[in-house]
This record gives sequence, C-alpha cells and structure tokens, in this order.
Amino acid sequence: MPKKPKILVTGGCGYIGSQTVLSLIDEGFEVVVLDSLEKSNSKSIPSEAVLEKTYLLSLSGLRKVFDKHRFAAVIHFAAYIEVGESQKKPIEYYENNLIGTFNLLRVMNENRVKKIVFSSTAAVYGLPETVPIDETFPKQPINVYGRTKAMMEDIMTDFCTSYGFSAIYLRYFNACGADPLGRTGENHNPETHLIPSILYTLLGKREKFTVFGTDYNTPDGTCIRDYIHTTDLANAHVLAVKRLLRPEAESGKWETINLGTGQGYSVKEIIEKIEVITGHKVPLEYGQRRPGDPDRLVAGNQKAQKLLGWQPKSDLTQIIQTAWQWHSEYQPPNSKNLTS
Ligand code: UFG
Repeated sequence: MPKKPKILVTGGCGYIGSQTVLSLIDEGFEVVVLDSLEKSNSKSIPSEAVLEKTYLLSLSGLRKVFDKHRFAAVIHFAAYIEVGESQKKPIEYYENNLIGTFNLLRVMNENRVKKIVFSSTAAVYGLPETVPIDETFPKQPINVYGRTKAMMEDIMTDFCTSYGFSAIYLRYFNACGADPLGRTGENHNPETHLIPSILYTLLGKREKFTVFGTDYNTPDGTCIRDYIHTTDLANAHVLAVKRLLRPEAESGKWETINLGTGQGYSVKEIIEKIEVITGHKVPLEYGQRRPGDPDRLVAGNQKAQKLLGWQPKSDLTQIIQTAWQWHSEYQPPNSKNLTS
C-alpha cells in the first residue's frame, strides 16, 4: 500500500484547524499538529494525530519538528485572530503572525517542503463597497489583524516567486458551527463572535446579548454576513492540499480563494433562526455600532467551485444546530473560554 502523505497542520488544535485535522484523517492523510496550546486545547484533536507542542517563534523548536518528520505539505492556521485585541496589541500580533509565518516558511525552505495552504480571511478586503466580493477585490484591511493576514499572504507569495513554493490562500468569511459528531467546536477566549455570543446568553453564561447597531444600510438595519460551516471550510483545506499535491501542479504559483456560501444573513435574521431552532427567546438589547463593521460582507465563491470543485454543504439550520449542540452538550466544562 502506498505511504500516506504526511501533512503538518500549524494551529491544528484551534477551531478550524481541529476540524481540518479530522477531515484530513478521514481522507487518509497522516497528520502532525504543531500547536503552542496557548489558546487551544490538545483534547480537540484525535489520537491518530501526532501533537508537537512548540511556538512558531522558536526556530529551534520548528527545526526539531522538521528533522523528525518528512512533510508533503503544510496547512498554516497558527495565528492570533482577534480583531479588537489586535488593535490593542500590534506588537504581539505582528511578532506572532508575521515572524511566526516567516520562521515556518524559512524552515520549510531549508527542508525543501514547498507546498502550503494558508488560513486567510475576508478581513483582508476591509470595507468593500459592493457585494459579492470576489478575489480580484483589492486588499485594504482596516485593522491590525487583517493587515497581518494580508502581509502573511505577501510573504508567502515572495517565497513562491523566489524559492518555487506553491501556495493557496483560503479567505474565509464568517466561520461558525461545530463538528456534527461533537468532536470539536468553537472555543475562543474571549468569545466575541455572533452565534456563540447569542448561545452563551441562552445558556445563562452571559446576561444579555447586544446587537451592535440597527442603522446600517440593509433591509432591517443590522449587518449582513456570510456564515460558513467549519466542516465545509475543513473540506476546502483538504481539496486545496490535494490540488497542491497533484503530480502536474506547477511550482512558483499561488492562488487566492474565497470560502463563503454566497448568501448573507442579517444579525436579526440570525437571532430569529436561533430562537426557532432552540425554542428560547434571546434576551437582547440594542446598542451602538461596533467600530469597523461594514454593512455587508458576502463572498463570491465561484473560484472555489472552479479550482477546488468545492461547494458548501451545510446551511444556516445545520450551522446553528451543530453550534447549539456543541455549546450546550459537548464543550468541555473546564474550557478556557466560557465567558468573555
Ligand atoms: N455582532 C453583534 N453582537 C455581538 C457580536 C457580533 O451584533 O455581540 C454582530 C457584528 O456587529 C457583526 C456580526 O454580528 O455585524 C458578525 O460579527 P462577528 O464578530 O461574529 O464576525 P465579523 O463579521 O466581525 O468577523 C468575522 C471574523 C473575521 C472575518 C470576518 C469575515 O471574526 O476574522 O468574519 O467576514 F474577517
């Protein structure tokens, strides 16, 4: 039997990373997870995955991992990801995200591992004037987090041009939902995202949910976003790795691909859907706009279909059902992030 390709997943214990680890294993890959566990939990990955605990800022730690394993490709999730925190701690964000990525690419190059799938974000688009947003829209991030992700893409592109790397940048819209089998789910600390924030309120872990602004230029006045299930995101990473591992794949090339459903929902529509699915009324208040929130962010996702053969399979109902099941039944009671 041919040997399984071994994939390194940085940040593989995180929310989308751990779901991707599960999908890679299901698809027959060998998986090594590199994670500092600073913001995540080793329980989120299955026993089939090997865990190497180190920081990307540690060149010696990274080199040891690459000495031990021979990788076919890398999927790079490890990064700080909180928009609000990034504005308060740019030093930590630039150091962790940029230098961490640079170290990873440098050690990959030393070991002639030159295929990388990168966990990027729609935050690189900033405040686009129209939707749907396709990959040709300019990168104009409006916060430190988005800028680090845009710069991480740029560093990788230089490695493609100069050292023959091949890369796929996956720009996610609003990641949400949980593993349908309850093996992993959202576990941020603090939790600021819409769906878990509402569910925490229903579970009595927060007093009230605040709607940030009702005067946006949308039909009901609340912001519209494109909510995409993590199992769909995970499948896209597997397809992207497979694309890079094709024998005919060219080196020195990079591709940018949006991952979203192409359909937007407003904050009010999400609240209504959650009330129907859970059978509970959400205790809410209407507050001020949160700075930096654009009216609408909806993905143009044709390129993902064309290049990866990817289409999202989960709808909003499945997103909310799996998130509700995760937060109410499975989320570890001692996890680091129950309240903000
Ligand atoms: N919202 C509230 N109250 C809350 C939390 C959120 O009203 O307590 C609203 C926000 O104002 C926004 C919407 O819910 O209109 C979604 O907010 P999230 O914080 O869940 O997500 P964002 O759209 O701000 O950002 C997420 C990721 C980014 C990514 C972006 C892409 O966090 O990294 O999706 O669309 F870039």
